[in-house]
Amino acid sequence: MAPRDDAGRLTLGGADLEAIARAVGTPAYVYDLSGIEAEARALIAAFAGAPHLVAYAVKANSAGPVVRALAAVGCGADVVSGAELALALACGVSPEKILFSGIAKTDRELDAAVAAGERGIAAVQIESVEEILRVAARARAAGRRARVSLRLNPAVSLETLATHAHIATGHDEAKFGIEVVDLPVAFDLVAQHPELALVGLSTHVGSQLTTTAPYLDAARLAMQTAARLREGRSQGTGPELAFVDTGGGFGVDYGDGCSAAPADFVRETRALQAASGLGDLALHVEPGRSLVAKHGVLVASVIQHKVSPAAAGVRGARQRWLMIDAGMNDLIRPALYQARHRVEAVDAVAGGERIPWRVVGPVCESSDDFGAHALPVAPPARVALLDAGAYGYTMASRYNGRALPVEVFVRDGRVVASTERDVEGVWVDDRAQL
Ligand code: LLP
Repeated sequence: MAPRDDAGRLTLGGADLEAIARAVGTPAYVYDLSGIEAEARALIAAFAGAPHLVAYAVKANSAGPVVRALAAVGCGADVVSGAELALALACGVSPEKILFSGIAKTDRELDAAVAAGERGIAAVQIESVEEILRVAARARAAGRRARVSLRLNPAVSLETLATHAHIATGHDEAKFGIEVVDLPVAFDLVAQHPELALVGLSTHVGSQLTTTAPYLDAARLAMQTAARLREGRSQGTGPELAFVDTGGGFGVDYGDGCSAAPADFVRETRALQAASGLGDLALHVEPGRSLVAKHGVLVASVIQHKVSPAAAGVRGARQRWLMIDAGMNDLIRPALYQARHRVEAVDAVAGGERIPWRVVGPVCESSDDFGAHALPVAPPARVALLDAGAYGYTMASRYNGRALPVEVFVRDGRVVASTERDVEGVWVDDRAQL
């Protein structure tokens, strides 16, 4: 149950969500910056002062106040596009703390990564043998030595990953990373290019991992590979690694449990690192979701309800639909990954009986469905979809000609910033003037 104030109204980080909805309208994403900062501090504490980088995966929530808040408590950034790179730099993230991941970076994006700061970003994470040549060419053109890491595909089975197939990346049929059999060729190729400095090895197996086992399987492969490279170096060859990066993917509890906390992933990976004799290397992680998901909600107003005579073919059972003003264009996770976000009434609701309301959005697709949720018989005027701080706004679209949702930022229980409401007219003008 999300926290409520004395009047029984739903709060986030101490802020009254009903008051915010009245002030800015709905649908509105509300984020608690204090909660996000505390989340990052707790994760950083798990490194116990050992060399590390928490490179926040900007794709989860790229709002300036969020990225700036995380940068201020010491996080770097994991970016996957030129736009995310520019955003991280504009929000004050040092190039020394930026990693650039992604399987198909354009030349322009590579140029920006190589050109950033005094000596480029911390590492361009190379995902294929073919990409090595492309990064080398861009570094040569810039007259710079680019720091790179190789992202290994650890081929952890989809079954072991136990997450939705769309967000599993570290299995052998995924487009991500360099397969183990190709590693010798990759190392040779990097070594032949003096304009590349191999500074790290990386993995990322997938997102929303609720146990540490698959993460550690991949981390073990990265550690073993790093240890072997180090042996080579002691014989006078091989790169001088600065870090091992075990990726993001720490799961959050969307209501059906998550047995591992983000700090557990870090502690167990550090133990593995120490056991591999690599304690002096920095450990990099790339969490997105776990830093922001719980500290954001999507507030929506109920437009109307509808009662259908039959629910799922059950005679006599009625389907009660609650139609809200947020849809799959605002929060696509349920439609795309069959994800479930808990829904709670925002306004004060008396104890009383609760019945299953099927909460749906206005978009003309049956997948625009947030599922059945226990809400009062007399439906609330406003609801909040919980744990929506990650992959919510960043995946929103204008589908069905809908305006993008507004975003509101709270610190210490008070609103500190909000975005202008996108107006439908902008979309109408854009499309009509073509
Ligand atoms: N690093 C890399 C290379 C990634 O591909 C990702 C996520 C992350 C880090 C961050 O993973 P996280 O800590 O957030 O799990 N839209 C989906 C999630 C897609 C994740 C893609 N990659 C969702 O809404 O569940």
